[in-house]
Order: sequence, then structure tokens, then C-alpha cells
Amino acid sequence: MDPNEMLLPSVLRRRLKTRLLGRRVYYYPEVDSTNRVAVDLARCGEPEGTLVLTDYQTKGRGRADHTWSSPPGKDLLFSLVLRPDGEPGFVLLSTLAFSVAVAEALTETFGFYAGVKWPNDIYTREGKIGGILAERVVAAGGKAFVVVGIGLNVNSVKNDFPPAFRDRAVSCRVLAGRTVDRPALMGTVLAALETCYDTFRDRGFAAFKPAYERLLVINGWRVWFDRSGRRLAGTVEGVQDDGALLVRLGGGDEPLALYNETVSVE
Ligand code: BTN
Repeated sequence: MDPNEMLLPSVLRRRLKTRLLGRRVYYYPEVDSTNRVAVDLARCGEPEGTLVLTDYQTKGRGRADHTWSSPPGKDLLFSLVLRPDGEPGFVLLSTLAFSVAVAEALTETFGFYAGVKWPNDIYTREGKIGGILAERVVAAGGKAFVVVGIGLNVNSVKNDFPPAFRDRAVSCRVLAGRTVDRPALMGTVLAALETCYDTFRDRGFAAFKPAYERLLVINGWRVWFDRSGRRLAGTVEGVQDDGALLVRLGGGDEPLALYNETVSVE
């Protein structure tokens, strides 16, 4: 990789406007997964706000045991160590809040529409542009921490995506029609995440629920999911205060609350 194209901490530093997130930066030209590294660092006491970032992942992880694949030196692949105070449901609720922050930052920066798909996807009208994987880990001694990993398709082009995703994935570059300055975008996204985290700590998910439901691309749509070995279909009716997706089955009085399921629209 051309050293001028790398997301080196020295380059990034000039673009960081944050107080907490990115206070410490660990950069790897290549690594298996930034979430894996961030978990290991946090287990060893790394403080809240530590940023782990890479230019290439060999084993990027996604939700529900999916993988996350991205070409070298083109996108944003990073993880943050967070140490929230005993917030129950933090993993799901912060995922929803952070996805609102990322979607809004993309729209503000580039002007294209970006929304969210429950619980952790960032979608545009042309396809998926990013995803969030938050993982809660209980360290030795019983104290928990959370690692929030974000993958954002920035400068990748159609042929960079795995064949199975080519019709369903898109990048900032494809939508904006120009090559994107990755360090600048990283600074913008981190600033949005920090503002989001501050608000989340003050006011909880309630501060994000209206925006989440407004940006929820599948709101009102018919979706399919598996529960207890059965394939079910229903209509999305927003999210509950605890972050569950509400889906009304045909004829059901009360919508079902989904927490761990993966929903699909086909
Ligand atoms: C998803 O869409 O299921 C979530 C994808 C999250 C991918 C990011 S890339 C950086 C960080 N490291 C990982 O291994 N995964 C997350």
C-alpha cells in the first residue's frame, strides 16, 4: 500500500476534533479484526475512547457470525473501547444510536440519503454502505466493557465487493462521484459518534428513538425472520424503548419484539 494512502495516526491526528474518542490510537496496516484487537487491549486495561484502526482486515467480523470484507486501503475499519456505567441493554441501544449518528453524518457530508436497517446496518437507496458491531465483554474481575466496531465503505468500487454483495453494497465514492478523503471523513464520523455518546449518556436512547424510527428504512415494510425454527413474516412498526424491533404478524393483537433475529425483506 502506498504510505501516502495509509490512515496513519500522524495523518489522522490533524483531523481529529474529539476529546474522548481517539484519545489513544492504535493503527495496523493489516490485522485480523479491529474488534478482536480492541477487546484484547481493553482486557489489559486500555481506557475508554481508545481507537483501533486498520487499512485491511483478514477476518472482519459482522453481526450474527457474518464476515466483513473490504479491500486494502480504501474504507474505514475501526473499533472503539467504551466503558459505560452498568447500562443494561447498552449494546443494542448504543448500536441504534450510533447508526443514527453515522447515517446523519453521511447525509450531512455528502448530501445523499442514508438510513438505518435494524439493528446495525447503514443503508442508502442504492444498498448497504456500513455496519456496526458492538460487543460486550466481561473482563477478569467481573467488570464489563464494550467494543464498538464500525465498517464504512468509503472508496471501494463495485468490483471490490464480494460477488454475492455487488448488487447490494455501495460506497461513499460511488454515490458522491469522487474519491473521498478518508482521514477527513474519519474525523467527521468520530466527532458525530462522540456527540452521540455524550447525548446517550445524558438522555439515553429516548434522545434517538424518533430519529431512528424516521431513518428506519424498513419501517412499515413486510419482513421475514426465523423464530423457534419457524419462518415468520410481519409488518415493522418501529422500535420499542429497549431497542427491540416491533413486528406485527397477520392478525396478531400485539406486535412481537425482536432482539436477536435477523430480518430480511425478501
Ligand atoms: C455488520 O454489518 O454486521 C457489522 C459489520 C461491522 C464491521 C466492522 S469493520 C471494523 C470492526 N472490526 C470487525 O471485525 N468488525 C467491525
